[in-house]
Amino acid sequence: MQKIDLFDNKFDIGYAQNIFEVSRRFPEKTVDIFDSISKNQFISKKELLTSVLTSGIIHKEMKVIVIGSWYGSILVPVLAPLVKEMFCFDIDKEANHIASIINEYDNVQFRSADLTKEKHPVFGEEVDLLIINTSSEHIEMKMHELIKFQSHWTKKRRDIYFAVQSNNMTDIEGHINCVHSLEEFKSHLPARNQIIIEKEIPEERGVRYFLFGQIELQVEKKKDGTTRYTFGEDSK
Ligand SMILES: C[S@@+](CC[C@H](N)C(=O)[O-])C[C@H]1O[C@@H](n2cnc3c(N)ncnc32)[C@H](O)[C@@H]1O
Repeated sequence: MQKIDLFDNKFDIGYAQNIFEVSRRFPEKTVDIFDSISKNQFISKKELLTSVLTSGIIHKEMKVIVIGSWYGSILVPVLAPLVKEMFCFDIDKEANHIASIINEYDNVQFRSADLTKEKHPVFGEEVDLLIINTSSEHIEMKMHELIKFQSHWTKKRRDIYFAVQSNNMTDIEGHINCVHSLEEFKSHLPARNQIIIEKEIPEERGVRYFLFGQIELQVEKKKDGTTRYTFGEDSK
């Protein structure tokens, strides 16, 4: 059984026990851990996952990168069984540790890294990628700057998708890069992109903004007849 079945409203007992276990072991994090599986979290993550899953882009050979992955709640148990590997990056070491206890998957890595400062080789692998960032409001660097920083040239054409969320909840602690409309949020994306789905997700504290799409690759034909591809060079 899937650990979380969003469409059939089912939650695996073992997964729930892992959440109870970490809240017992890390009492100072209990509220935060339970926030990550709150009703609003299910609503916004379900929008993202429904869009991505119904679009048909997910396949067994692709890799998923999650930026600001927190406890990996909801996204990891749904996506990990469907893809080759997931890389979850968060600057909070303890959050990564807790995430790795909650989510027991051989193909998921929780890494303590700030991708706005450190380049990571997974961005350069010759596989299709889905880049998820639902923590955009916490990260100062805009998505197009981060993508440009992490861009690589590859010999193989590949598909690079993004699924990103931000919100207009400026009065919440830690929210340093909020947006106030989908149009403003689109200006944070790499310039060459194709939006597949865009949505506003209202909740009692404000509005979450969601963009799902594909980054158009830049193609370079070299003098020796070879072709190479990148996804970040032509950003704004
Ligand atoms: C409150 S959580 C997630 C909020 C988000 N709205 C969501 O629903 O997924 C924000 C996470 O972003 C992480 N974070 C903040 N700045 C970061 C950065 N530069 N790189 C990676 N993670 C970062 C924090 O450590 C935290 O775990």
